[in-house]
Amino acid sequence: MVGFAFVAPVEAAAAGRPARTRFSPDPSVAARPGPKRRDLPPGAAPLTAPALRAYDLGWKHHRAGHVPQPESTPWPSALSAGQLRTRSNSGKKVAVITGASQGIGAGLVEAYRKLGYAVVATSRTVAASDDPDVVTVQGDIADPATAERVAAAAIERFGRIDTLVNNAGIFVAKPFTEYTQEDYDAVTGVNLTGFFRITQLAVEQMLRQSGGHVVQITTSLVHHALSAVPSVLASLTKGGLQSASKALAVEYATRGIRSNAVSLGVIKTPMHSEEYFETFAALHPVGRMGEISDIVDAVLYLEDAPFVTGEVLHVDGGQGAGH
Ligand SMILES: NC(=O)c1ccc[n+]([C@@H]2O[C@H](COP(=O)([O-])OP(=O)(O)OC[C@H]3O[C@@H](n4cnc5c(N)ncnc54)[C@H](OP(=O)(O)O)[C@@H]3O)[C@@H](O)[C@H]2O)c1
Repeated sequence: MVGFAFVAPVEAAAAGRPARTRFSPDPSVAARPGPKRRDLPPGAAPLTAPALRAYDLGWKHHRAGHVPQPESTPWPSALSAGQLRTRSNSGKKVAVITGASQGIGAGLVEAYRKLGYAVVATSRTVAASDDPDVVTVQGDIADPATAERVAAAAIERFGRIDTLVNNAGIFVAKPFTEYTQEDYDAVTGVNLTGFFRITQLAVEQMLRQSGGHVVQITTSLVHHALSAVPSVLASLTKGGLQSASKALAVEYATRGIRSNAVSLGVIKTPMHSEEYFETFAALHPVGRMGEISDIVDAVLYLEDAPFVTGEVLHVDGGQGAGH
């Protein structure tokens, strides 16, 4: 990496790093009584019935910390009453995580369990779990049949899907003209086709529940191509996911479904050989690679951020900002 100043990695700080600080509501605000219809300014024109309903509904959801919902969600004919639950069979929210066998996906499974979610974890080789609140489904996410099995497992075992993290992904870096048709098929298969059917199924279920959250894991290369790392297929596929994240956010904003992306720098996972860690560290203004915990913290922030949707959250050691 000629031309890049290498600053000693600071990952050692990870061990002694302060606990993640999370936004908590100001209790004095939470305790404040909500506005009542009689609080309308004197002389204000009377509200129509639909406006009053929207007003009350919006405030109710504000108090609950949720995006306002439409008053009623169409009841799909295929939906049984048992599917419309406020929590899973075990009383937990449910996260589906793809690419869950190792790396960031494995970190997300652990984090969502700590958060109290039941988890459906999928990848080709994901191992069975002893945890009764983790279901594992093996399969190639590029095959729509895997998505069907994953969604079915979530509903059969837990009765709902609250969060989908589209984390499965592969990375092939090559000069553009050296990519083969096999490279193209493999990268678009996992990164794009692997997003499509499972996200459709998850969103369908979220619509029945009037809420949910979809997160795409992407790369800083979308916004910040590097001459040293030629990788058009990463930009093509992850850039598509980022655009889709925004489009989904807008399409479903009024139906309680949020969609966000986390755009990563280079993270220490089994995707990368340790021999290149020093080189990768130098690609980031902060002078280090990211840790799995950096990405998990970002996803958990988004999980707990009801006013954030359509966001591409850069967790890239400053790469997106420049050099
Ligand atoms: N690490 C980085 O520096 C970095 C940077 C930018 C973006 N990302 C993105 O972050 C996400 C996670 O990456 P990671 O670093 O944790 O990678 P990783 O350690 O290589 O893990 C990738 C995961 O995806 C699964 N997977 C791969 N092909 C699959 C397929 N055909 N069907 C189903 N699952 C498949 C793998 O499981 P199986 O082998 O069991 O199928 C594995 O669980 C990916 O989307 C990646 O593009 C990573």
